[in-house]
Amino acid sequence: MDKIRDVYKQEKELLRLAMQQSFLKEEEEPIYNRVLEGMEHGAVLDIGCNDGTRTVDRFGTDRVSKVIGVEYHRELADRANSNHGGGKFHFYQADAESSGFEDSLENIMEIFGIEGFDIINISFVLMHLKDPGKLLSRMKNFLKPGGTLTSVETDDRFSRMLPDKEGRMKQFLEFCRKDMLSGRRRLGGDVPDMLELCGYQDVLVHSRCISASASEKNRKEQMFEIAFSWLLEDFEQMCRIYPENQEYARIKTEIAENYEKFRIDFTEKSTEVSCGLVMVTGVR
Ligand SMILES: C[S@@+](CC[C@H](N)C(=O)[O-])C[C@H]1O[C@@H](n2cnc3c(N)ncnc32)[C@H](O)[C@@H]1O
Repeated sequence: MDKIRDVYKQEKELLRLAMQQSFLKEEEEPIYNRVLEGMEHGAVLDIGCNDGTRTVDRFGTDRVSKVIGVEYHRELADRANSNHGGGKFHFYQADAESSGFEDSLENIMEIFGIEGFDIINISFVLMHLKDPGKLLSRMKNFLKPGGTLTSVETDDRFSRMLPDKEGRMKQFLEFCRKDMLSGRRRLGGDVPDMLELCGYQDVLVHSRCISASASEKNRKEQMFEIAFSWLLEDFEQMCRIYPENQEYARIKTEIAENYEKFRIDFTEKSTEVSCGLVMVTGVR
C-alpha cells in the first residue's frame, strides 16, 4: 500500500496537483463559498491535505479561524506546516483509516478547544481508501450538528469526448480503470448514496463533471493534462513493481503509442469534452 501512496510525494505529481489545484479552484469556489456563507470563527478538518496548498486555498477565508489538516505522509504534513503552519493552520501526520485515528483527532481537537467541526473536507482521497464509507460514517460524529461534509471525487462514468470515432476516450478510460495507482476512478457518483446511508442530511450533488466546449482549446489542454498526463508514468511504475504482469506491459506500450493521437483528438477544434468530477455535500 505504501508503494501506491508514495506517488503523492513525487515532485512531478506535486506539480500536476498544483496545476489541477489552480484549474479546479475556479470550479469549486462557488460550492465552498456556499458552504462557508454566514460562517463565523469556523473550524475545518481537511483529510488527505497533501502539502496543504489546497487547504489554504479553500479555507484561507476570514470566516474560518481554525483549520486542521491531516495527511498520511509525514514529509507532506511537515512541508504543509513549514509553508503554511502557525496562525490558523495546523497540519498533522495521521492515517485516516487507522484504528487510532479518532483518538488522535480528539487529542488535536482538545489542544485547540474544538468541540466539533463546521466543515470536514475530503477531496480526492476517498477513491484511495480501502473502505471510504467507513470513514464517512466515522467522521459524521466529528461534525457539529449542522456541520457540512464536502467531497470532491473523480468519476470516469461521466467522462465524454465527442466526436470520438477512434474510441480513444473509451480506450484511455479503460487504462485509467486498470491503473491501480490512481484509485477507484468510478467512486464519485457513489458518494451521495454513501452519505445518505451514513445518515447525512440534505445530500446535494453540485456537479458531476467539468466540461469544455469545442472552442475552448486552452481549457481542453489543461483538462487533458490533469486527467491523463500521469498515466504513462503510473504504468511504468506498475511495470517496475510487477515485472511479470503482461497486461501492464501491453497497456504501457499502447499508452506510449496512442497518447499523442489522443491528445490531438481531445484538444481538436471540433471536439467537446467532459471529465467526471463529482462534488457533493452532506450535513450532520
Ligand atoms: C490526490 S491527493 C489530494 C490532495 C488534496 N486533498 C486535494 O484536494 O488536492 C490525496 C492525498 O490524500 C492522502 N491520503 C491517502 N490516503 C490517506 C489516509 N488514509 N490518511 C490520510 N491521508 C491520506 C495522500 O497521501 C495524498 O496526499
